[in-house]
Amino acid sequence: MALDVDSIRSQFPILQRTLPNGKKLVYFDNAATSQKPLAVIDAMSDFYKNYHANAHRANHTLADESTAALEGARDRISKFFGTTEGQMIYTGSATEAMNLVAYGWARYNLNEGDVVVTTEMEHHANIVPWQELSKERGIELRYVPVDTEKFTLDYDAMEVAIQGASLVCVGHVSNVLGVRNDIERVIKMAHSQGARVAIDSAQGAPHEKIFFDDLGADFLSVAAHKMAGPTGIGCLLVSEAALSEMGPFLTGGSIVKRVTLEDTLFQEGYAMFETGTPRMAEAIGWRVAVDWLEENIDFDVAHEHVQSIASWMATRMREIPGITVFGFPERKEAIGVVSFLHDTIQAQDLGYLLDAGGFAVRTGHHCAQPLMEAMGVGSTNRASVWIYNTMEEAEAFVSHLESIVSRFG
Ligand SMILES: Cc1ncc(COP(=O)(O)O)c(C=O)c1O
Repeated sequence: MALDVDSIRSQFPILQRTLPNGKKLVYFDNAATSQKPLAVIDAMSDFYKNYHANAHRANHTLADESTAALEGARDRISKFFGTTEGQMIYTGSATEAMNLVAYGWARYNLNEGDVVVTTEMEHHANIVPWQELSKERGIELRYVPVDTEKFTLDYDAMEVAIQGASLVCVGHVSNVLGVRNDIERVIKMAHSQGARVAIDSAQGAPHEKIFFDDLGADFLSVAAHKMAGPTGIGCLLVSEAALSEMGPFLTGGSIVKRVTLEDTLFQEGYAMFETGTPRMAEAIGWRVAVDWLEENIDFDVAHEHVQSIASWMATRMREIPGITVFGFPERKEAIGVVSFLHDTIQAQDLGYLLDAGGFAVRTGHHCAQPLMEAMGVGSTNRASVWIYNTMEEAEAFVSHLESIVSRFG
């Protein structure tokens, strides 16, 4: 079964857009954030127009409707990720989800000398919280290196690094290279050492169906906005065992049973972590995004579509004089990301020149400076493909890049 890309595209209003310079938009910045189908936009607008009220906080009709929508969304979204609503904590982002692991679990369970393992390939969201905790708690932080010939994690070094570790935190898919890490192996390795394991799936979940309970990770972070959902919401999925070891992170209203001047009794389970006014509109939008994905996408077919476009682009771009493509987007398991540089056209300039042709790509260090350093570069241009992109867009992109290079290279 092929993807019905025309039908998919027709449901994303922004993809019909023409830029101020008259060029038609070609959106290749999906690893930063995906676009949203009309169904998601309409659902959020409907909430604000018709039943907006603060969930959990009153006994009136609107509040009941808002609460039912928020909790119904949790039920639906958690099922989509192969788990149950008790294992899902709404967060503001994937970054906040990782901070919740650091401050809601590690801060309660790790002490001076305990070891946290992460990797050189990570987004800053899976490095900086560990560095901060390490300063606060004297935790030892170990990094698994990247093999910059093969562009994979060095799993032999990981075997050594996780000896005696309490927590292993690994990205599902690299946002710079599109490398899909062997998270199943990492989870087994970590558990064989008695360590808990956290997977940063900000880039994995938009491309691969997650079955959290079957996967066996203790924590998994997701960002809704990278998978057709709204900004401002994500979640942390947590195993029952890990959840029972967690304590409050952000404190204040909504997460308490009783507060006296002396102390506070907190709620249990996910309710202990969702402080303040809930993200109602965002949860409603995300639920519709999940419904939309299930109705329109077979994830295996979508992966083939995305991978074949990125693979074709990478192969053609390597033939352009002066262009270096990082990693191997041609690999079957690679996930739609083509990071590249030209040897004389500066990355920022190349980004602007591509934009002048209507092509939205990302330029910079992609919040992965340790990986950039391992690769010996300060930044890259990054084209990232998702379900609504087409081979025609890829061809137009490569041909525009060729003309930029022949003019300015
Ligand atoms: C691998 C990875 N982890 C975490 C994040 C952080 O996601 P968010 O900005 O939604 O918090 C990103 C965002 O690009 C990412 O690519």
